[in-house]
Amino acid sequence: MKKDKTESAVPEHVAIIMDGNGRWAKERGWSRLKGHEEGAESVRVVVDACRKVGVKYLTLYAFSVENWVRPKAEIAGLMKLLDKFLTDREKDLHENDVRLRVTGRIEDLPLFVRRKLLKVMEATKDHKTGQLILALSYGGRTEIANAAKQIALLVKDGKLDPTKIDETTVAEHLYLPDVPDPDLMIRTSGEMRLSNFLLWQLSYAEFYISQKLWPDFREPEFLEAIEEYKGRRRRFGDVK
Ligand code: IPE
Ligand code: IPE
Ligand code: MG
Repeated sequence: MKKDKTESAVPEHVAIIMDGNGRWAKERGWSRLKGHEEGAESVRVVVDACRKVGVKYLTLYAFSVENWVRPKAEIAGLMKLLDKFLTDREKDLHENDVRLRVTGRIEDLPLFVRRKLLKVMEATKDHKTGQLILALSYGGRTEIANAAKQIALLVKDGKLDPTKIDETTVAEHLYLPDVPDPDLMIRTSGEMRLSNFLLWQLSYAEFYISQKLWPDFREPEFLEAIEEYKGRRRRFGDVK
């Protein structure tokens, strides 16, 4: 599939693997949770920066399907932090006309966070300037397998001709089919892997790896990533 988008203007969609909270805290002899708390401040700053530079969609990898193996206390702390983040930021979302969405298995989350998420998603659903997408209990393979299941069910019910299945069919059955693919994928803390993030959607994204740990990734670091992106030449398989 060829996109008509070889220019490198400001990315429309930025996806971030927010990594390094634990290491940031460890360097200071603090609990991992402290790192997550400081990371929440980076989230606030980066959401603001997106508005300033005109990034329309921001997807943040906040909790993976794999992260459920972490110690119970850390998971509980992260869920509380998410709840607090939503309480603190709801006003901002309204003021800035930003819609909150979730990608991932929202049904896996504890009831109190799920309720809060659904409430804020509903309250912001008509906001049009930007979208803040939280990847929660998200796994790229889980998402693709789920799409395959939905498609198989349509075939079984006689609603879809299996010989007609193509890339568009698959894309239409992902969690948020209306969201354009990310143009830029940022990972902090220097790790060079995808960790099961947006496997389908990142197919043609530009990658930017920052050595900064997520709590140290603030507006100047984000703007630097955007600047670097602007200098990239996206060829989408062509020879231009
Ligand atoms: C990222 O920071 C936040 C989540 C995965 C929830 P980490 O908690 O992975 O921090 P490190 O990688 O251990 O430093
Ligand atoms: C990826 O970070 C998931 C999130 C940022 C939520 P991890 O820290 O869980 O990834 P790995 O385990 O180092 O690959
Ligand atoms: Mg990590």
